[in-house]
Amino acid sequence: MDKELMGKTVRAMIAKGKGLLAADESAGTCEKRFASQNIPCTEETRRTYRELLFTAPGMEESISGVILFDETIRQKTHDGIPFAEYLAGKGVVPGIKVDKGAKALAFFPGEQVTEGLDGLRDRLKEYFQAGARFAKWRAVINIGSGIPTETCINANSHALARYAALCQEADIVPVVEPEVLLDGEHSIERCYEVTEAALGSLFNELRRQKVSNEHVILKASMVLSGNKAQNRAGVPQVAEETVKCLKRSVPATLPGVVFLSGGQTDLDATAHLDAINRIGGAPWPLTFSYSRALQAAALRTWAGNPGNAKSAQQAFLHRARMASLASLGRWAPELEKISSYCFFLVLIIMS
Ligand code: G3H
Repeated sequence: MDKELMGKTVRAMIAKGKGLLAADESAGTCEKRFASQNIPCTEETRRTYRELLFTAPGMEESISGVILFDETIRQKTHDGIPFAEYLAGKGVVPGIKVDKGAKALAFFPGEQVTEGLDGLRDRLKEYFQAGARFAKWRAVINIGSGIPTETCINANSHALARYAALCQEADIVPVVEPEVLLDGEHSIERCYEVTEAALGSLFNELRRQKVSNEHVILKASMVLSGNKAQNRAGVPQVAEETVKCLKRSVPATLPGVVFLSGGQTDLDATAHLDAINRIGGAPWPLTFSYSRALQAAALRTWAGNPGNAKSAQQAFLHRARMASLASLGRWAPELEKISSYCFFLVLIIMS
């Protein structure tokens, strides 16, 4: 286990004012997202779209790392440079999603466990050679009547810890993601309870399996009311509950926490991250690892039309810059209208 290399990777991933772009949607998820914009979903349209994001000029100012999908890490820019090599060349750490998706948990209706451990040791070797320096594994925790059960939480924690140990053995930094889903009518209090239980179980299991905390990144969901809840908690409460829950559950030795956007609107994901960072006092940097909240506007703007590529890149860069400001607790709704020139002025003033 090369702790020096993983330490370097971790420091690059959580560089101040930066976060991760999750571009690891499976072909199936891409199909759904592309279909919503009437974009044909083929290996080539997926490649073209990913190239548009990765080559957006200056994306490396706000993005420290990109999570790739198995297909994407094998793809190249139109000039023939493998994506992982291209990203590393601009100082962006290439990462890879290695789980094989959440599957129904036998005998536990409505609950899922993530698969993908078989053959993972060999796949990690291959991904390392392809340039990946961190990996991601997503577990899914549903909230509903009588769920999640302790069995579901523990089964997912066990798999996350086995994955994390294999990653560290291969000198790849594991991003562990126990996502508590937004779907449902549950209150923010119920989300807090479930998130605390999931994180408690995860860190116990990581310790049991001898995973080095100093070389793990937590990808967390924010503590939110369900998307169908009657009285949804506002931004200040979400920030307070999220920070309280993390402080009670996450070891201080962890190098960083990144949040998923989880189906929040772009503005909610940005406002919540900003409010979380304004609270201060957390022992770890708190930044973003968004897919939808960084990409939705870009995908809509592109709509599969090559003539829209530049505007789509601007839409992506705008969201990345807003998330970057939020990771510093320096975002404000008025900044949504600023140009890239002003963005850099804001950064200079703040530094
Ligand atoms: O694993 C989940 C994704 O990497 C994050 O996606 O920001 O759209 O929830 P999201």
